[in-house]
Amino acid sequence: RTPMHSTQLTINGRRETVNADIRTTLLDALRENLNLTGTKKGCDQGQCGACTVIVNGRRINSCLSLVASHEGDDVVTVEGLADGEALSPLQRAFVTHDAFQCGYCTPGQLCSATALLKEIEAGEPSVVSNGEIILSEEEIRERMSGNLCRCGAYNNIVDAIVEAAAQGGEAAR
Ligand code: FES
Ligand code: FES
Repeated sequence: RTPMHSTQLTINGRRETVNADIRTTLLDALRENLNLTGTKKGCDQGQCGACTVIVNGRRINSCLSLVASHEGDDVVTVEGLADGEALSPLQRAFVTHDAFQCGYCTPGQLCSATALLKEIEAGEPSVVSNGEIILSEEEIRERMSGNLCRCGAYNNIVDAIVEAAAQGGEAAR
């Protein structure tokens, strides 16, 4: 028998307790213990980004992280991006720009891009001109390079992020 561990954390604004084998990844805890199956398992080894979630404001690959290491953390998954029925500006932009085909990579792309918009808001990268953030497509591609899309929807994904970024802070909610 392997030791069980109880971890308390906040997921999409709700306090949750996960009782799981100490070796359980955050990805498996989300999908199997909490039934939040929006977060996808692609490679399960940190190479595809399908499992991207936002922890304390930062995007991480949840397949590479043990849930037991997230005591007290604030986790946002794709299920937490919309405000009730209302899609976030980024989600709407994904729809407008057809930024998905099979959709398998999409939850990870959305979480990654949501965190990317926050990074930009925090002034981390980017050229600023007259107080306006100028985010180049190259920079978006570079910053989204951890999220693979086997359908090759990259151009539309970038277009969607450009649109959401142009809407400023609201998009980074
Ligand atoms: Fe986590 Fe691929 S499933 S990076
Ligand atoms: Fe199919 Fe990206 S839309 S993998």
